[in-house]
Order: sequence, then structure tokens, then C-alpha cells
Amino acid sequence: MSDLRKEIERRRTFAIISHPDAGKTTLTEKFLLYGGAIQSAGSVKGKASDKHAVSDWMEIEKKRGISITSSVMQFEYNGYCINILDTPGHQDFSEDTYRTLMAADSAVMVIDAAKGIEPQTRKLFKVCAMRDIPIFTFINKMDREARDPFDLLDELEKEFGIGTYPMNWPISCGVNFKGVFDRKERRVISYGDSHRGRDRLASIDCDLTDTEKLDELIGPYRRQELVEQVELIDGASFDFDLEQIRHGKLSPVFFGSALNNFGIETFLENFLEMATSPLPRHTEEEEVDPFDETFSAFVFKIQANMNKAHRDRIAFMRIVSGRFDRNTEYFHVQGGKALKLSQPQQMMAQEREVINEAYAGDIIGVFDPGIFSIGDTICEKGHRVRFEGIPTFAPEVFTMVEQTDSMKRKQFAKGMNQIAQEGAIQIFIEPESGMERVYVGVVGVLQLEVLESRMKSEYNVTYRAYAQPYTLIRRIVGDTDPKTLHLYDVKWVQDFRGQNFLLFSSEWHIRHTMEYNKDLVLAEFGE
Ligand code: G4P
Repeated sequence: MSDLRKEIERRRTFAIISHPDAGKTTLTEKFLLYGGAIQSAGSVKGKASDKHAVSDWMEIEKKRGISITSSVMQFEYNGYCINILDTPGHQDFSEDTYRTLMAADSAVMVIDAAKGIEPQTRKLFKVCAMRDIPIFTFINKMDREARDPFDLLDELEKEFGIGTYPMNWPISCGVNFKGVFDRKERRVISYGDSHRGRDRLASIDCDLTDTEKLDELIGPYRRQELVEQVELIDGASFDFDLEQIRHGKLSPVFFGSALNNFGIETFLENFLEMATSPLPRHTEEEEVDPFDETFSAFVFKIQANMNKAHRDRIAFMRIVSGRFDRNTEYFHVQGGKALKLSQPQQMMAQEREVINEAYAGDIIGVFDPGIFSIGDTICEKGHRVRFEGIPTFAPEVFTMVEQTDSMKRKQFAKGMNQIAQEGAIQIFIEPESGMERVYVGVVGVLQLEVLESRMKSEYNVTYRAYAQPYTLIRRIVGDTDPKTLHLYDVKWVQDFRGQNFLLFSSEWHIRHTMEYNKDLVLAEFGE
């Protein structure tokens, strides 16, 4: 096998998703700990506490103790090279999350055993389902009072319309949590007092048929209950089917406790076996095979201000095929220019490190002097591929911002345009007017806070903002002149290309507008 193939085959790139507080950070941290990438727990995220957080880059994040931006981490485990894409848990950031998921080949969904599916889990799952990527479920916090496991699986199946395959089965929960039954190995892995620590620990095994040892370990009552439950899941649950798993139709479910290091190894080992190596990606014409020797990548995220001291802007790209070499000149398809990617870097647990090479499946961050846009393709010179674009979500929150200092007109326009180019906001203007007043559309209100703080710190511009009542946006199709339309409580705006859009405050307003303007044809945003 060629070295290139070997390197790519051992790569696994996944996104980790959850509702805030389910234990995503703790689990990520344990992965890094087991992979030897960090030495002690508690070093990934300090939340609002004094501990320093890897993924909390921006001031707002630090203040609020939430992770707004997605970060990328790489570590090695059992010969595999694993890339974890952290997704922002905040409800405002579904668009950013969607882009992150475009760069992943599978997802790990963390669920709090006491809560089951929560609003953010639901949103994120929907986004994963749009891509049919495999979803691995980790039901966390079994050391606490939890919901009935049958109930939890039932909820996943009914709400998400997928099958579930419990890889292990919990023996009680909370103070009575005794461990899990591993269905593949057909043995009990016991959880004891020794697990209630923060360090890496081994589990004690016991065969389900070893009645004597089991009675001693979990008591006759729980043994009996376990035997019955295992019979039930063996008989009634979905069959194990790797093809279904790989197409996102069947989710392998693991029960454990991230905080107590219980079930982490089992999860990692099974996950690495079942998850696919880097998957091909589509261009407008063809499918690009990851093992193809010609390098290609696409930008899925642009992030400014990652390092205050350097005022840098980083474009994150997912390598789709071949090998990246730091000294080679590549081609930026959308910009039509050859370029060397400067300061290519990867996140290695706590530090960013400049890298010399990377392979399909890897995520690299490169310094962006303002030339990249989300969805751009970078490839070998003379090799013209163009990956399918990354769809944008329709903004649901609108505000009108007005510059307060006419001396800073240029900075205001520059800041607005650049931040819009990153895909963090959508901007519109009133027809036939300039950039003094801008209508900003975002998916969630937190982005407006980010905008304000970035305009101030990066462009030294302040503005007045006026919240707008609109929640829906539609594009006007064809050559209808908006001036001839009968519009009540509807705002007509244009994007930078001069395309006409209407902003509405409710579905009723859309219907009403359609009734009064029989020839009007509207399209969803982004279509
Ligand atoms: P998130 O990234 O999904 O938001 O969750 P995070 O890992 O920060 O975990 C949220 C809280 O749940 C943390 O407690 C964490 O310690 C706790 N937790 C995570 N996994 C488990 C588990 O398996 N069992 C139990 N009992 N708790 C778990 P916290 O008090 O909010 O923060 P901290 O002070 O412990 O860091």
C-alpha cells in the first residue's frame, strides 16, 4: 500500500454535537486524554471559570463561557489519526454548525441520560441528517439518575426516524450504576468506586453466564434484570448493519459516563472501526476520491480575530484528496490565482502548530489576507475542480445599522463587507442608497453582538442599531419591478449584487402580499 493511501485510510474526521451541558467538552477532553494529546483533564475548557479554554477564542466567548466558534483538534489513537470538529452548542449558530458538518465524515451525538433529546440536539441532528453521515450516540452521565434506557432509544427512533443499535446496555444508573453489558464481546464491564475519579482507569470484565461472579458484582436482582433486558434487546432491537450505520440510518448507541472515564475506550475503539475513512466529495461534475494523488480542498469556515495580538484571519479548509505540502504552490479556483498557503496550521489539543504536510480528511487553517470565501476550492495547479457550494441559511433576525461617524464611512463599509464575506452575517441596503444604513440579517441574535464587538475592535467603528420586526426573507424572482408592487408592512431591500428581496414579519404578510400582487413570484433565500 502506498504511503499516501496508508495515511488517508487511518484518518477519521468527526464532528461532536450536543445540547449545552450534555458533556461534549468533557467527552472531547477524555478523547484527547486517552489519545495522550493532553496530560490532565480540565485543560480543554474552563467554561466561565478561570481555566483557560482552547476553543474560546473571542472575548465574548470568554465573558459568556460559551463556545461560539468551532475549533478543530487532532490526536492519535491506536494508530488512527483523529480530527475532532467541535460544533458550537449555542442555538444561534446553526449555520456555522452546518458548515462544520460539511467538513466531517461522521458525527458523535452526546446526550444527557437524564434529559434525552433536547432542543439543540434536535436542531443539530436535523443538520446531520441532511448529509446522511453516520451518527454515533453517546448517552452520558449514567452515574446520575437517568431515564429508562428503552425510553431513551424509543425517543431517538421516534423523533429522528432512525434505527438505534445499543452497543452496550447499562446496568442501572445513578448511585446504583454498576456498569454495562458489552453486546459484541458478550460480557459485563463493571463500574465501581474506582471509576469515580478523574484519571484514566481500566474496567473489570465479567461474563454474563458467570452467575456467581455477577451476583457478587451487581447482585442477583440486577443480574436477573440484566439477563431479561439483554434478551429483550437481542430479540427486539434492530440488527447490527454496518451499511445502515454508514449511511446514517442506524445509530450505534453507547452508554457511559464521560466524567468518570467510563465507556470512553469502548466507544473510541468501536467508533474507529465503524466510522469510515475520509469520504469523497462532489464537484459540480464529478466525485473526487480522497485517495486521488492530486491535492484538493474546500474552505468551510473563515474566522477572524483568533489571536488578538496578530489580528489574523484564518480560513479553515478540509482536505478532500491527496496530500498537502507546505512548500507547494496551489491554485485558488474562485480567485483564479496561484498561491502558497501561508502559515498552514493545525490545532493539536492546546496549541496551534505550523505544519508541513497534511492528508485528505485533515483540516488545516491558513492565514487569509481576505481572499477566501466560504465554499472556495483550492487545488493543484492545472487541476480545475470546483466543489459544490455550501448552502446558506435564511436569516431570521434583522436589524438596521446606521453609522454614527461620517469620518469613518470607509471603515464601516469595509467592516460590514468583510464580515459578510465570512458568512457570519448577510447585508442588504435600501434600493438606490449607499452603505450609510445597512440591513443586517442573521440566523441568531448572538451574531449581532459578535458583529458589534468586532466592528469596534477590528475596524474601530461604532454604530446605532435599530431592531426590525422582520423574521422572513424572500427573493423576488424574474424582472418584476418592486416599485410597482403593493407593499404593506413589508420591506424591500437589495443585496450587493442588486438582487431584490422582501422582508416580512410573518407568514400572513407573505400571503397577504401575494394576494395583492398576483404576478409576484417569490423564492426562498438561497434558492
Ligand atoms: P458541554 O460541553 O456539552 O456543555 O458540557 P460539559 O462537558 O461542559 O459538561 C457539563 C457539566 O456536566 C459539567 O459540570 C461536567 O462536569 C458534567 N458532566 C459531564 N459528563 C458527566 C458525567 O458523565 N457525569 C456527571 N455526573 N457529570 C458530567 P459543571 O459542574 O457544569 O462543570 P465543571 O465545574 O464540572 O467543569
